[in-house]
Amino acid sequence: MEFTEVVRRRRMVRSFSGRPVPEPLLRQLLDAALRAPSAGNTGGWDAVVLQGRPDLSVFWEATTTARWRAESRRWPGLERAPAAVVLFSRPAAYAERYAEPDKEASGLAAGPWPVPYWFVDAGFPALLLLLGAVDAGLAACFLGNFRGEEALARALGVPDDRRYVGTVLLGEPGDPDPPSLSLARGRRRAEDVVHWARWDAGRDGAGGDGGDGAGDAAGPVTPRSGPTDGAGNRVSPADGESTSAPGGQPGPDDGDP
Ligand SMILES: Cc1cc2nc3c(=O)[nH]c(=O)nc-3n(C[C@H](O)[C@H](O)[C@H](O)COP(=O)(O)O)c2cc1C
Repeated sequence: MEFTEVVRRRRMVRSFSGRPVPEPLLRQLLDAALRAPSAGNTGGWDAVVLQGRPDLSVFWEATTTARWRAESRRWPGLERAPAAVVLFSRPAAYAERYAEPDKEASGLAAGPWPVPYWFVDAGFPALLLLLGAVDAGLAACFLGNFRGEEALARALGVPDDRRYVGTVLLGEPGDPDPPSLSLARGRRRAEDVVHWARWDAGRDGAGGDGGDGAGDAAGPVTPRSGPTDGAGNRVSPADGESTSAPGGQPGPDDGDP
């Protein structure tokens, strides 16, 4: 699948058919995740792969309550997820790495860290898993957790120095999958997000030159490919795609797990 198509199709799927994901495919997705960038090439993350109901029940038992499972309209679809990659990170790995000779001048080893690289780093493999799933014809969902992280780590035998990051559910999509309430917010537009050169000037649609590299001796780069509109102009991969449910209003939500 074209990369732009993978990006355009990616969305969080919260209901699965239950059909198992072949282990070679899981390994392929994890291999891709290992290609994620990493601060100082520290790679301070680990993944615990859960497959099938017995494995997955450990995850759900630790992170949800019996009451939530009984009442949630999402539970039947989520419960059918056949695989999960539970991501952990080791903060100390970054202090160790940034104490090494080529990094010690950063001063980060002693902290404080302006940005916690151990969490930033773990986001990249998570995204590769999400995108890889789409490319492989699967569905996926990244779940944060509001409860049970320590119980989960204990149940999975994870060492104490690891911090829980989140979990990527993987599988074939299933029905029903009511849209999350979060989607009613819509996707932010480039003109609201992207500040060209300065925060308060040159916004998309507000007189910016689009950051086209004017003035660079080498001139702008030419994109090799990308979606175009009927007139041959490049368009954002997300153009024309609404994240809102039909009618603009998702149905009532009992909250994300
Ligand atoms: C850090 C993080 C935590 C998230 N936690 C949850 C979660 O606990 N449950 C859930 O259903 N979705 C969760 N999501 C998915 C978001 O709700 C989703 O990405 C957002 O609404 C945009 O929808 P889309 O990814 O389908 O475009 C999480 C996403 C991120 C990045």
